[in-house]
Amino acid sequence: MSLLRTEALSKRFGGLEAVRNVDLELPAGEIRAVIGPNGAGKTTLVSVISGRLEPTAGRIFFKDRDITGLSAWQRARAGIVYTFQITSVFPKLSCHDNLALAIQRRRMTGLAGRLREDPAALRAEVEAALARVGLAEDIDRTAAELPYGHQRLLEVALGLALSPELLIMDEPTQGLSNAEIARFCDLVRGIASEVTVLLIEHNMPVVMDLAERITVVERGAVLAEGTPAEIRADAAVQRAYLGT
Ligand SMILES: Nc1ncnc2c1ncn2[C@@H]1O[C@H](COP(=O)(O)OP(=O)(O)O)[C@@H](O)[C@H]1O
Ligand SMILES: [Mg+2]
Repeated sequence: MSLLRTEALSKRFGGLEAVRNVDLELPAGEIRAVIGPNGAGKTTLVSVISGRLEPTAGRIFFKDRDITGLSAWQRARAGIVYTFQITSVFPKLSCHDNLALAIQRRRMTGLAGRLREDPAALRAEVEAALARVGLAEDIDRTAAELPYGHQRLLEVALGLALSPELLIMDEPTQGLSNAEIARFCDLVRGIASEVTVLLIEHNMPVVMDLAERITVVERGAVLAEGTPAEIRADAAVQRAYLGT
């Protein structure tokens, strides 16, 4: 069964068709990368999928349920989390408090259901969530004090705290150091057994390393889709995007 499916999804901004007739099918458990030149419509596509923007036409199905009319929060509750959107980092709060808030928010919205009244249990859950992204040492630092790359990792931890089934990330490695990118790739591989990942990514080594399949978007439409090896070998992709 596909976890996510879009049918002829389109988004128009005035005269500009930013997303054109996109049929995307994402099986549960896959790591999918979306690539394409700047302005190709990648962010618009995931914004329409996550509910931040309304499509002009087309439908979106999540676990075979039509979610086209749901709000971003209803989609988050259904299991679609777009990091850097649903998750907001509070700069003056510690990493611990940021995570504790996200966990309590999940509890309130019933995303994961189980009540955790015990502060020690909450602390343990926060510690585990931070350790997962390599931020265990930063638990008592404020988010604002963290280096930029660590702030992005904190955002991923906040997204994961909502227990998503589909985690969408838009250029998560932008501005990260090589060491942080390596840690991020390990993290994505580590969560991939539980979470389906839809990743917009410019860094080709990261894409080729992480993605099981790649969707290439150009001028709002899907130009090609395949395994990293197929995409590398695709002549149209090479002409349009890889520049070879
Ligand atoms: N809110 C908006 N209003 C008008 N045009 C937009 C808006 N958001 C994006 N666009 C335009 O839509 C096209 C696709 O943008 P975007 O989805 O951000 O591309 P990408 O993420 O692939 O770089 C671009 O031409 C961009 O200028
Ligand atoms: Mg973008």
